[in-house]
Amino acid sequence: MYALVTGGSRGIGRAAAIKLAQMGYKVIINYVSNDAKAEETLSAIRANGGEGELLKFDVSDQAASQQALEQWQADHKGEYIAVLVNNAGIRRDNLLLWMEPQDWYKVIGTALNAFYNVTQPLIQPMCRKKFGRIINVASVSGLIGLPGQTNYSAAKGGIIAATKALSKEVAPKNVTVNAIAPGFIKTDMVEGLDEEELKKTIPAKRFGEAEEVAELIGFLASEKSAYITGETIAITGGLN
Ligand SMILES: NC(=O)c1ccc[n+]([C@@H]2O[C@H](COP(=O)([O-])OP(=O)(O)OC[C@H]3O[C@@H](n4cnc5c(N)ncnc54)[C@H](OP(=O)(O)O)[C@@H]3O)[C@@H](O)[C@H]2O)c1
Repeated sequence: MYALVTGGSRGIGRAAAIKLAQMGYKVIINYVSNDAKAEETLSAIRANGGEGELLKFDVSDQAASQQALEQWQADHKGEYIAVLVNNAGIRRDNLLLWMEPQDWYKVIGTALNAFYNVTQPLIQPMCRKKFGRIINVASVSGLIGLPGQTNYSAAKGGIIAATKALSKEVAPKNVTVNAIAPGFIKTDMVEGLDEEELKKTIPAKRFGEAEEVAELIGFLASEKSAYITGETIAITGGLN
């Protein structure tokens, strides 16, 4: 069975791709620009005896997403993507007072519009095959709202709401839809943040590892999580 991880070349997406491959899924690694990192992820999967492939497209671009997914389907007749991890995301932090329009639209586009662009074409095959797992990577920012992140909080909050709504549409077809809300996780995305200061605000007194988030994604992608749907699970070391 195939699993697609958007933003699978680096960070949380990479760890999730490696975990899903260990579970036996054939992993499709989506990314937008960093070919070298995507190749590294694919090599790591193959080195562990897993199977994977690359699928480069911009998830914020509806036409590009549709075209890439249609081409994948044409190249894989009779197959379908059973697991979707909507993970690609960016942040462009600023106080709303100074936020440029492109920083609003780009962040919403890469998280929230991408949820539509990638999920919509994959829903019907999941329902027809009567098995699907959709895991949306939101953020604690979408749960509590963080200053300097109105764009990001809005995108992630939207994803949490979309998760709840879609889960109710597809539950009868054995397709589950859940979100996860990570706190601070050590990836490229948090580079430049003051880790020493921020750690003091986290009850666990440390940033999380991408591999810890991947364990949660792996569970939600498994058959064992069948009765969990529409949920948002925080993974924050107690930050809330
Ligand atoms: N790290 C944290 O503390 C944290 C906390 C809460 C939530 N999250 C969420 O977790 C997810 C992963 O974050 P991360 O920390 O692992 O980020 P990261 O290390 O910066 O990796 C981002 C990934 O997304 C891909 N990507 C970015 N824009 C894309 C686009 N338009 N189309 C396709 N792929 C795109 C990147 O591809 P390229 O390699 O080609 O650039 C890369 O694979 C994001 O949704 C983020 O909001 C992260």
